[in-house]
Amino acid sequence: MKLTFIGAGNMAEAIVAGILDKKVVDPWNVCVADISHERLQLFESRHNVKTLSENAAAVAKADVVVLAVKPQVFPTVWPEIERALESDALVISIMAGIPSAKISAGKSIRVVRVMPNTPSLVGEGASGIAAGEYATGDDLSVASELMGAVGTTVVVKESEIDAVTALSGSGPAYVFYLLEGMLEAAEKMGLNQEISRELALATVIGAARLMQETGEDADALRKKVTSKGGTTEAAVNTLQAHDVKESIVSALLAAQARSRELANG
Ligand SMILES: NC(=O)c1ccc[n+]([C@@H]2O[C@H](COP(=O)([O-])OP(=O)(O)OC[C@H]3O[C@@H](n4cnc5c(N)ncnc54)[C@H](OP(=O)(O)O)[C@@H]3O)[C@@H](O)[C@H]2O)c1
Repeated sequence: MKLTFIGAGNMAEAIVAGILDKKVVDPWNVCVADISHERLQLFESRHNVKTLSENAAAVAKADVVVLAVKPQVFPTVWPEIERALESDALVISIMAGIPSAKISAGKSIRVVRVMPNTPSLVGEGASGIAAGEYATGDDLSVASELMGAVGTTVVVKESEIDAVTALSGSGPAYVFYLLEGMLEAAEKMGLNQEISRELALATVIGAARLMQETGEDADALRKKVTSKGGTTEAAVNTLQAHDVKESIVSALLAAQARSRELANG
């Protein structure tokens, strides 16, 4: 499989590092194109892959092209790529808010859309993967294998991508927001910053792993640590008095609505 990345940014680097580490592809079959000479040099020295500053030259002969530029540059980048694309090439787009139909634009180009999230940068990502109109089951497998090198993958319908964006795409920000609050409180309570950070991070990771490994629901696990008249109950009562859960639900619905708006241009 000859694989070309258009855009040598953070996300492309995470995926390239992951697939090389997991030996999904060999470095000599990976090509990366970007307008930034510095980024290309970094990919060459760190990952030993081929680099090109010409997008069109980079996609010629590629079996799979990963669009990893910001959505704003898609309208300028796509026409030059499309002309040079092999007729049987698979296009995998990680760009937020660009529907597959906008990429295939009336032609039968096989497009798979991926919504990753930033923990992919440390190999702990969560990606929703959706087939465009002409993509096959094999194309979904290729995308799942690539993204599986940097975390968890799930296959969804393209109509569900806005919900995936709201849940896991933007999701890390909600967890960071929770951590901001926990750490601000820790400071108010006089705890040392380093110790607070260590305890808060271990708590978030540990709670997620407990839920994952026990298979129990979040509310069941929460009730287990909430004894009557205890400290956790005092905290949870305060959260409930402020409608925190309802606010989280509204926040995700707002993210989904914004994702739809962006996709509709
Ligand atoms: N759900 C999420 O949390 C999430 C997370 C990350 C990424 N994404 C998606 O992943 C994509 C990449 O994100 P990123 O964070 O990796 O972005 P990034 O770091 O900005 O990388 C994009 C790269 O493309 C380069 N570029 C700009 N114009 C170009 C052109 N005409 N031809 C070739 N390369 C060009 C940029 O160079 P310059 O910097 O010099 O412009 C930059 O090196 C985005 O579309 C984003 O929506 C989603």
